[in-house]
Amino acid sequence: MPDLLDLAVKQLRDGHLVAIPTETVYGLAADANNVVAVNKVFAAKGRPSGHPLIVHIVNPVLPSMTSAESQHAWQQALISWSRDVSPQALALAQAFWPGPLTMILPKAKNVLSEVTGGQETVGVRCPNHPVAQQLLNLFGAAVVAPSANRFGRISPTTSEHVKEEFPDESIMILDGGACDVGIESTIVDLSRLDTHGAVVLRPGAISKAMIDKALDQAGLLNDVALSLKADLTKPRVSGSLSAHYAPRTKLVLYDPDQQDLINVNDHKDKRVAWAHFQKSKGINLSLACDVQEIVLPDTPNQLARSLYATLRTLDQLNVDIIYFEKLPIHEEWDAIRDRLGRASVGSGV
Ligand code: TXA
Ligand code: MG
Repeated sequence: MPDLLDLAVKQLRDGHLVAIPTETVYGLAADANNVVAVNKVFAAKGRPSGHPLIVHIVNPVLPSMTSAESQHAWQQALISWSRDVSPQALALAQAFWPGPLTMILPKAKNVLSEVTGGQETVGVRCPNHPVAQQLLNLFGAAVVAPSANRFGRISPTTSEHVKEEFPDESIMILDGGACDVGIESTIVDLSRLDTHGAVVLRPGAISKAMIDKALDQAGLLNDVALSLKADLTKPRVSGSLSAHYAPRTKLVLYDPDQQDLINVNDHKDKRVAWAHFQKSKGINLSLACDVQEIVLPDTPNQLARSLYATLRTLDQLNVDIIYFEKLPIHEEWDAIRDRLGRASVGSGV
């Protein structure tokens, strides 16, 4: 791996893209300060230029540091990206970084507008994958890294998935094994603290409750008027499009308790894939000509880890329609429910 890391650093320095493992999903990394390199990310993904990218930074904290020292280290690391590093941002960095949390902060003057999508804010995250951290350390600067998939498609959680997304391109891929978390980082907007508080724009492994608890423990949880929380759609978040993470096969989420809503004409004489929990009630697919089953893991962590690989497998079964059992209504399933809902809306095209 050391030789490969040196090569990857050279690629980044020369303004090329490198696919990197993170604990959430694989990212398509480019030097965050090189406008030509950043533009290559948009071109490779087919991503509209207005969609901002997340800046990934090296972990500046050493195990030997005291809490005050590590707070100072985060402050120093963030100051080149954000003009106003709030105590809330520092508290969340202390609590969750390196890890699957992206913070939206008021941007510093020198941040490329290609990175921010022309907005006054910047997304920053410190990833917790050893390979990503080793690369950032050797590179000595930050990278932008959107998920390493074509725009709107399923995010990659293995290096093979990245290859599937970019078969013809000569993009270097660092293999760091299967991603542990499996779905993208939680995005929390801290750029409008006075009026909106901390707002979760994209749910992920770190829940709103965990964020509020960390802020509360730091004495920084201030309630803002609920009426002000209406304006949540303003920032451009590509993962917030209603169609995203989508398989090419039509994917239907069904409620096991409302099977009468399943339209038999959708699968009559068709090939069907059926993804369900072990304990699930059966569904009546007797009119289908072929049914392939996939049993889903029972816990949110396990399902998140395998979700995108499962969606890819389902898409490759060459069926006409996928029935996917709806998830339990509970906060711990929210982030996966979010991804599945968008996958369903964007599917079949
Ligand atoms: O887990 C992750 O966050 C992965 C890994 C590779 O780190 N990255 C990722 O990047 O999911 P991407 O580009 O696929 O999604 C980033 C999301 C986009 O929806 C983008 O709009 C949003 O972050 N974002 C970035 N900067 C923003 C900003 N300044 N304001 C609002 N949203 C922003
Ligand atoms: Mg993405």
